[in-house]
Amino acid sequence: MKKVLVIAAALAAATPALAHEAGSIIVRAGAAHVAPDDSSSSIEVGGGAVPGTKATVGSDTQLGLTFAYKLTDQIGVELLAATPFSHRVGIGGVDAALGASGFDGKFAQVKHLPPTLTLQYYPMPSESRWQPYVGAGINYTTFFDEKLSGAQKANGFSGLSLSDSWGLALQVGSDYMINDRLLFNVSVWHIDIDTTARAKLGGAPVKVDVDIDPWVFMVGLGYRF
Ligand code: NI
Repeated sequence: MKKVLVIAAALAAATPALAHEAGSIIVRAGAAHVAPDDSSSSIEVGGGAVPGTKATVGSDTQLGLTFAYKLTDQIGVELLAATPFSHRVGIGGVDAALGASGFDGKFAQVKHLPPTLTLQYYPMPSESRWQPYVGAGINYTTFFDEKLSGAQKANGFSGLSLSDSWGLALQVGSDYMINDRLLFNVSVWHIDIDTTARAKLGGAPVKVDVDIDPWVFMVGLGYRF
């Protein structure tokens, strides 16, 4: 019995502990919440800005996935992916500006995908169970499935589309190793997403610049390969 224990101890010592180290692949999945910190220009109709008008963007939660690869013990590269986010777009100030009613409120429902690539720095020793990190990188957001509300179609709007966006992304996060493979993760990004929404009102072109600039919060589990 004593001999078995000695052999087991020797094997344990010989087997390198699994760690957040060069070559590790870390896959994380969880709930990803996009909370816009939005602002917009006035809405332009027929080339002229209509003072006091604006567009707003609501929040949404989807399944988020991140894939990280450790280039060295301290440096990683990570891709954020997700199922498509769906955001409510609203307009405000239009009724007052036009002396009308029935324009303010829901304008459209719009989907987007915001793949984000970051270079990450992990300051802790690779064997640490706690692995905080910071990251910086680039985001590409593509908008699709832009659907005007029925009421806005009845108001005369048609042909909504939102331009794609390239911007910077900053990130802070942390893994906590539950065992050698499984981990708990929280991560936050701030992403610069700016778009121009274009539509028609009757025959007149309508345009508004919107800075969505969301905070993205993700909480979930991960697996280290
Ligand atoms: Ni911005």
